Amino acid sequence: MSNKMWGGRFASGPGAIMEEINVSIDFDKALYRQDIAASKAHADMLAKQGIITADDAKKIAHGLDTILSEITGGKFTFKRALEDIHMNVEGRLSELIGEPSGRLHTARSRNDQVATDFRLWMRDTIDTLDLALAAFQKTLATKALEHAGTVMPGMTHLQTAQPVTFGHHMLAYVEMAARDRGRFADARKRLNESPLGSGALAGTSFDLDRDMTAKALGFDRPGANSLDGVSDRDFALETLAAASIASVHLSRLAEEIVIWTSPLTALVRLSDKFTTGSSIMPQKRNPDAAELVRAKTGRIIGSLSALLIVMKGLPLAYAKDMQEDKEGAMDALSALSLSIAAMDGMIADLEPDAARMKKAAGEGYATATDLADWLVRTLNIPFREAHHITGQIVGKASAGNVALHRLPLADMQAVEPRITDAVFDVLSVDRSVKSRTSYGGTAPKNVKAQAKKWLKKLEKEKA
Ligand code: ARG
Repeated sequence: MSNKMWGGRFASGPGAIMEEINVSIDFDKALYRQDIAASKAHADMLAKQGIITADDAKKIAHGLDTILSEITGGKFTFKRALEDIHMNVEGRLSELIGEPSGRLHTARSRNDQVATDFRLWMRDTIDTLDLALAAFQKTLATKALEHAGTVMPGMTHLQTAQPVTFGHHMLAYVEMAARDRGRFADARKRLNESPLGSGALAGTSFDLDRDMTAKALGFDRPGANSLDGVSDRDFALETLAAASIASVHLSRLAEEIVIWTSPLTALVRLSDKFTTGSSIMPQKRNPDAAELVRAKTGRIIGSLSALLIVMKGLPLAYAKDMQEDKEGAMDALSALSLSIAAMDGMIADLEPDAARMKKAAGEGYATATDLADWLVRTLNIPFREAHHITGQIVGKASAGNVALHRLPLADMQAVEPRITDAVFDVLSVDRSVKSRTSYGGTAPKNVKAQAKKWLKKLEKEKA
């Protein structure tokens, strides 16, 4: 049998392999809600413009409502023979209401239909991700407030650098998540133009009201070029780029959790809820969720590369290649959503070991910069020279295997005779972080203020 939707000029139906490679219902059924909403908007507009009768539009709307409840109620049978979500919905509409169903596709093509549906789906997904990221920010800021004064070793090159606070570290990720949300919001702004009414590629001879359908679907305006409307997928690419960057942020935090929970550092304890055991080694507490968040980044970035490659070199307008936009994007965005949820849960539950963190912060001569700064401030020594003097003092401490604040004053004076015992005031890790009061610095009072600022801002956003 030839295809009911497009089989007019065909004597036989597609071969089995043709059907297998062509079929998209297995994944584009996720677009059912958007597909039905867009069809309802289209039918309403056709009736208002006198292109179909009000009575037909009513029957169509009613039928589409029935289909929606069939799908949400799990009573709808998706048919692979009907290829995609558009033809599955229309096929069922024909069973339900007969002849008027055939009028729905007036002045429309699956090309503008799928471009519309996928934009709507992307927009909904961005909105869900934004809520999840906001919740994650709140969790991070709450942890930050709780640990505004918890000193930990700040690292560069994964070598002890200067003491920071755990709260400050958490707030760094709040800032990253804010920019991630900004990127999604930007993508959303640009994607919010309606392709509906572009037809197959050239527009249509029917007198459409594209503003009406755009408005009904919450778009800001109809897209101004029909070729562009059906053929670009930059909205998906932008969203995937934003998702890739967000997932890289999550992956870095995931890696830090892996490091912090390793017995080699034991700086943080994950809750049982986010830890797994080993089937052979009874002592193990593995950070599997963090490792999986770290790994999901691969498929998220992969889907961006895949779609870039699909689109590269495609001549205008629509080509079936574009059907490959959905599976990867849907998979990537659901992986991101799961990653955010897992990270949110891990951060909410984890407990830093404050004593170990403080001890680790004091190792590795983390307050050497404080000593150099003291030499600059108190003895008016140029920083470069102070750096050199401090290096020599650290060398002595290291040779004697003592912490900087335990090095006898006489040893320091052997390097720089003008040093007094007032220097010991700046050598403790607590004093060090307390002194970092520059805007954006790690001083506990800064961290407290920033955490509160974020919590207030996030609360206000919700209202
Ligand atoms: N399933 C198709 C897609 O996802 C819908 C558009 C089909 N258009 C066509 N001309 N065959 O791209």
